[in-house]
Amino acid sequence: MKIYKRFSAENRITLYNGDSLKLLKQIPSNSVDMIITSPPYCIGKEYEDPQNDIESFKNEHKRIFPDIYRVLKPGGSLCWQVGYHINDATVFPLDFFVYDIFVEGSKDTEYPLLLRNRIIWTFGHGLNGTQRFSGRHETILWFTKGKNYNFDLDSIRIPQKYPGKRSYKGPNKGKLSGNLLGKNPSDVWDIPNVKAQHVEKTEHPCQFPVAIPRRLIKALTPVNGLVLDPYAGAGTSGVAAVLENRRFVGAEILSQYYDISIERIKAAERGEAKVREDVPVVEPNLNSSVAKLPEEFAKARGEYY
Ligand SMILES: C[S@@+](CC[C@H](N)C(=O)[O-])C[C@H]1O[C@@H](n2cnc3c(N)ncnc32)[C@H](O)[C@@H]1O
Repeated sequence: MKIYKRFSAENRITLYNGDSLKLLKQIPSNSVDMIITSPPYCIGKEYEDPQNDIESFKNEHKRIFPDIYRVLKPGGSLCWQVGYHINDATVFPLDFFVYDIFVEGSKDTEYPLLLRNRIIWTFGHGLNGTQRFSGRHETILWFTKGKNYNFDLDSIRIPQKYPGKRSYKGPNKGKLSGNLLGKNPSDVWDIPNVKAQHVEKTEHPCQFPVAIPRRLIKALTPVNGLVLDPYAGAGTSGVAAVLENRRFVGAEILSQYYDISIERIKAAERGEAKVREDVPVVEPNLNSSVAKLPEEFAKARGEYY
């Protein structure tokens, strides 16, 4: 399948190497089923201006918001994955700013953006704090454009923890109490982040795992629907869209990541994408050698307790 550089509604995949606003200007109003992205956090990543601060983050969102809103269909979903900006040892929850800009920007329209979930994405690994608790979560704000929207819960159910549990009283006594298709994954998602050993890792410094856009795409868009990622990075949302048979349009400003996104999306089309299966995180095997307390711990305990 061909990957196009300019957007046209007939193209299944468009990848634009440039500024997201220039791509947005090519997209007709009310044509996108879902927007999923993780924008630059303005925390000094190598693709960011080191002078970037929280004002840059807000300004970037104000710059693109009118066109983000314009291209989204009424009933469509806007999913924004962000973490924290940290400056001078102070933590700024980026979703607070996103929420304000998006709600304020759409409030006097026929279809205001309405928040449906604030999903907590939690993961086991990251920097270890010494002056505050180590950060182990980020968030995803899911808005819909107006009141009516689709949510295909059955497509994203996950295994029950206790599938054999039965009602113990009432008219359903003795019957299985859970849904046989699995349970609602809830608004807390424990999905490993993409660190060095992760099968999806590329040279991009902050990919999100395919499982995040994939679950959202399945639940919130129709088959063949159009998914947009305005800050596509290594193309993770595009990989998820291809795997779920949706159309995709994305922009990435840096050519080294744009090239990676083309390769990954092509691999997905060939059925060769490297993807970590979205399975519950398994508790460690307490019998394994790395799970046992090494003798240094006992010594440290003796010194400190
Ligand atoms: C947080 S990363 C996205 C990572 C992506 N979710 C993934 O899994 O690979 C943000 C990306 O936005 C890109 N970017 C920054 N400003 C941009 C702009 N104005 N237009 C398009 N892309 C931009 C950066 O180069 C970076 O790759």
